[in-house]
Amino acid sequence: MLGLLLSWSKPNLPAVSSFATNVDTIYAFIFWVSVICFIAIVGTMTYFVFKYRRKSENDKTPYIEGHTPTEVGISIGLFVLVMGLFYWGWVEYMHSRTSPMNPYEINVVGQQWSWNFQYANGKRTQRNIHIPVNTPIRLIMTSSDVLHSFYVPALRLKQDVVPGTYQYLAFSANTPGEYDIFCAEFCGLDHSAMLGKLVVMEAEEFADWQDDMGKYAKTAAAGGTQASGKSLIEQGRDLYSSKTCSACHSDDGTPRVGPSFKDLFGKTEELTDGATITVDETYIRDSIVDPNKQVVKGFVAGTMPTFKGQLNDDELNALVAFIKSLSK
Ligand code: CUA
Repeated sequence: MLGLLLSWSKPNLPAVSSFATNVDTIYAFIFWVSVICFIAIVGTMTYFVFKYRRKSENDKTPYIEGHTPTEVGISIGLFVLVMGLFYWGWVEYMHSRTSPMNPYEINVVGQQWSWNFQYANGKRTQRNIHIPVNTPIRLIMTSSDVLHSFYVPALRLKQDVVPGTYQYLAFSANTPGEYDIFCAEFCGLDHSAMLGKLVVMEAEEFADWQDDMGKYAKTAAAGGTQASGKSLIEQGRDLYSSKTCSACHSDDGTPRVGPSFKDLFGKTEELTDGATITVDETYIRDSIVDPNKQVVKGFVAGTMPTFKGQLNDDELNALVAFIKSLSK
């Protein structure tokens, strides 16, 4: 009976991520709890309206005392139910926010009105994101203008992207095919046209697809510069020299004016205000555009100039990828 009710209220959508069916079950469970509560509350209310209606002009309302055990019982019962739902939902939420070791990472940049993707080897796509099947994927996401929301119903995933910072999604897709991507946050005139496809490919097929650099391979041969068939890490290494990061930050652990980038990613650092942080993509990005925000203990605030406005999202992503690569 319960199984029938749960399956009856499931959405008619492909379930491609590992947590999609669990999300559907939680959704169906909440739906049916709501239906049962609605019927119980409105039904009781309607029954009482008739049963206790005023029957004559001098019908007096009796003085009614509360019934403590019932009230405490209902409160505790509902508390347990709601916290149980919270825990169930939270467990599934965490699955989509934490990734296993060494996921395949793709940078996602939302902009009015398209999704841009950049892969580890430097390949780029617009609108459609290609991924290998049954492989842990981690998206490092941002926006270059306003709020957008990356929404893939088949994965049961939706995440707002915010300019100036990173958001992350982790998943793996279990069935090859093409699935819709929407922007789920009103972002201007062509919001409704900000569509794309998640293309899930067999692993070998994906490898071939990724190696085919198309127009970027050609620009590389013609001496193209940025994004010209170079991997994200190589692009980052180029910027590390050309933007003179290397003057203050070594890539081999040698102490200079600023912290070395060697083994920096994932490190726990103590800040000048006593707080501790773990160096992640967001921290690196913040330190480039707003260097005085969180200064590591032992270094002097104000030493590093801000690079705000001098590096676009692609360049920041490349630098972050380069710094990460020095910690593996
Ligand atoms: Cu982007 Cu709506």
